[in-house]
Amino acid sequence: MSAPELIRDPREWQRRCREARQAGRRIALVPTMGYLHDGHLSLMREARRRAGADGLALATIFVNPTQFGPQEDLSRYPRDLSGDLAKCGQAGVDRVLAPEASAVYHPLHESWVDVTSVSQGLCGASRPGHFRGVATVVMKLLHLSHPDVALFGEKDWQQLQVIRAMVRDLDLDVEIAGMPIIREQDGLAMSSRNAYLSAEERVRALSLSRALFEAGARARGGERRAAALQAGARAALEGAGVRVDYVEVVQPETLRPVAEAAPGSRMLVAGFVGRTRLIDNVGLP
Ligand code: PAF
Repeated sequence: MSAPELIRDPREWQRRCREARQAGRRIALVPTMGYLHDGHLSLMREARRRAGADGLALATIFVNPTQFGPQEDLSRYPRDLSGDLAKCGQAGVDRVLAPEASAVYHPLHESWVDVTSVSQGLCGASRPGHFRGVATVVMKLLHLSHPDVALFGEKDWQQLQVIRAMVRDLDLDVEIAGMPIIREQDGLAMSSRNAYLSAEERVRALSLSRALFEAGARARGGERRAAALQAGARAALEGAGVRVDYVEVVQPETLRPVAEAAPGSRMLVAGFVGRTRLIDNVGLP
């Protein structure tokens, strides 16, 4: 497939998307922060499929500063625009928006989207302001792109619920599609932040998916008590040298903790392997 068109200016992007919509073309959007891996590419291939032959498959590549805390990895977040563009082309993306932060945020920017309840707890508790930054930039990208459908990975399960709540509450006319987690062969959930891991840390990072799969197996075997499932996963993570941020069994939409796992309940984990914070999750049977 050919290289996508690269657009830097959000206003030009918005004008071109408006024209496409007026011409009756279907638009499928994949927002990313770049440094693309197979998880992103699965979203892009699905965007291509959903846009159809006459439609537009769009991707954005923007490391959004407002979703990083002051002590977080904004400055060292991995970037590779030319490699990303080649991958977007192979996945069938037609156009990529890769703006400068100064083109996205006005110097006097003062408007924010706060999704209150589902943003609290879990990653929201340890990363204050993170989901406000995510919701605000996703709202801006939706306004700029006018998509029929926007696709997000289920690895960021809480993010997906925040975006769904925002779309529901603010009557946005867009379908939000959640796509399954793509894993390495050994189970590690694909993430741009895996690039930070040393060989030894990568081995330890495997404990996240293993702890989740083990909890899933125990739930299948009849263990429904969330506390028991969480304790088992936490012990496995700590045993592998992961500094646990949280291990929670939750209702999948509201993310409220549950005492008993029910079909569809989700187990979410976050932890530090060295300096790298990783997250993963699994649906419980
Ligand atoms: O999941 C991500 O890569 C980002 O949080 C997103 C949705 C592109 C917003 O910056």
